[in-house]
Amino acid sequence: VAKGRELVMVSNRLPVDRIVREDGKTDWAPSPGGLVTAVEPIVRELGCLWVGWAGSADEEVEPFEIGSMRLAPIPLSSEELESYYEGFSNGTLWPLYHDVISPPVYHRTWWDSYQRVNLRFAERVAREAAEGAVVWVHDYQLQLVPAILRDLRPDLTIGFFLHIPFPPRSLFAQLPWRRQIVRGLLGADVIGFQRVQDAVNFRYVSERYAGAPARGNTIVLPETPDQAARSVLAQEFPISIDAGGFEELASRPEIRRRAEEIREELGQERTILLGVDRLDYTKGIRHRLKAFEELLEDGEISAHDTVLVQVASPSREQVEAYQQLREEVEVTAGHINGAHGSIGHSPLVYLHQSYSRDEMAALYLAADVMVVTPLRDGMNLVAKEYVACRADEGGALILSEFTGAADELRAALLINPHDIEALKAAMLRAIHLPREEQRRRMRSLRKAVYDNDVAHWATQYLGAVAAAADTREKQV
Ligand code: G6P
Repeated sequence: VAKGRELVMVSNRLPVDRIVREDGKTDWAPSPGGLVTAVEPIVRELGCLWVGWAGSADEEVEPFEIGSMRLAPIPLSSEELESYYEGFSNGTLWPLYHDVISPPVYHRTWWDSYQRVNLRFAERVAREAAEGAVVWVHDYQLQLVPAILRDLRPDLTIGFFLHIPFPPRSLFAQLPWRRQIVRGLLGADVIGFQRVQDAVNFRYVSERYAGAPARGNTIVLPETPDQAARSVLAQEFPISIDAGGFEELASRPEIRRRAEEIREELGQERTILLGVDRLDYTKGIRHRLKAFEELLEDGEISAHDTVLVQVASPSREQVEAYQQLREEVEVTAGHINGAHGSIGHSPLVYLHQSYSRDEMAALYLAADVMVVTPLRDGMNLVAKEYVACRADEGGALILSEFTGAADELRAALLINPHDIEALKAAMLRAIHLPREEQRRRMRSLRKAVYDNDVAHWATQYLGAVAAAADTREKQV
C-alpha cells in the first residue's frame, strides 16, 4: 500500500486456526476456504496487522507473529459461536446471499449477537490501527464493521471486500435488518464484489434502503449534520489465486510422483473425475452425484473405466443444513458404490477430509476431468487452481455458470447444474474430449487465470483504496 500507510486486515477467521495437538501443545494450521487461499499470499509479501478469530471458543489467545504478519486474535464465546457464527453468519446471511438454496432463518437474538461481535472487531481495530492506516475488512460476517469503524476513527481509509455473492434485490428484501447492513457497508470508501451483477445488486439496494443513489460505480452519500458529503466506490474486483505458486508446486518431482501414485492406486486405465469442495449445499454436490449415478445406470460409464474422486472437506458441522447435507451425500455415496461397484472397483471415492496443498496439487495433476458444479458461488478458486496446475495443457474443466469464475473461464465446458441431462452430456463430452481440444481449451483457460492472478487482483483493489486515501488526504 502506497506511502507507508499501515495495512490492517480484518476477517472473521485469522489465516491460521489454533489447534491443540495430542501432546497438548498448540499449533497453527491454515484456515479453510477461499478467502484465506486468496488473501494470504499477498500479505505475506506486504506485511500487515491481521485481526480475526483464532478458531476455538472461549479462549483468550495472545497476539503473535508469523513472518511479516502480526496477528491479533478476537475471542468468541461458545454462545457467540452459536448465535453470531453458526447463526446469523451461516444460518441467515450465507443461505440468503446464495439464492436461498437452503431457507435462511431470521432470529432476533442472532442479529443482536452479530451486532455485538461486529462492534468488538471494530473496537479492536480502532485501538490497534496506526494513524492514517488502510483497513481492509473481509466478507459477510463483518458487514457492520466499516460504519462503526468510520465513527470511531475518521482518519482511517476503509476497504470492504465481499467474497460471496451479493443477492438480487428481491431476496435481499427479506432481511429484517437490510437497512442496517447497507448502512454498515457504506461506511467503507471502497466496496469490492466478485461479479458485475453483485455490484449492480448492491448499488440498487443502496438507493432503496439508504437513499444513496449511484452514478456509474460511485455511490454518493449526501451531507448530513455530522458528516460531509462522501463517495463510495462499489465495483467488481474478481478474486484469484497465486497461479505461479500453484504451477511451481505442481511441477515439483515429489508432487508429480504422488500424482502418478494416485493414478496407479485408482487404476491406470480409468478416467479420473475429480470434485473438491467444502461440504456445503451451495456446491451442487448432490447434482454432481445424481448425474454420475445416472451415467452408471445408463451404462454410459462403468466402475471399470471411470472413477469419481469427491473430496468434501468438513465445514460448519454444527449447522443443521450442513448435517442434513452430509447425511444425504453419504447415503447417496453408499448407494452408488453398492449398486455399481465390484470387488476391487468402486466408482466413487468419497473423502470427508481436508488435504494439504501438496496433496491437492497431486490430485489436480492426476485428474482427467475436474467437475465444478455450484448452484451459486462467489468465485470458486478450485477451478482456477486446477487450471494453474495443468502446465501440461491436459485435463478438462466442467464449470457451473453460477460461479464467479465462469465470467473469466469461458473456455471451460460451462453447464447449468440444475439441468441433469446437460451435466451428464458435459461429463461424457469431457471424458472423451480429444487431446487437441483439451489443449486448446486449457491454453485459453490458463491465459485467463494468469491475466488476472491474485497479485493483479490485489493491485487493482488496493489501487482503488489508495486512490480513495489520497482523495481523503486532500480534503483534510
Ligand atoms: C468461504 C467464505 C469465508 C470462510 C470460508 C470457510 O470461503 O467466503 O469467509 O472463511 O468459506 O468457512 P468457515 O465458516 O469455516 O470460516
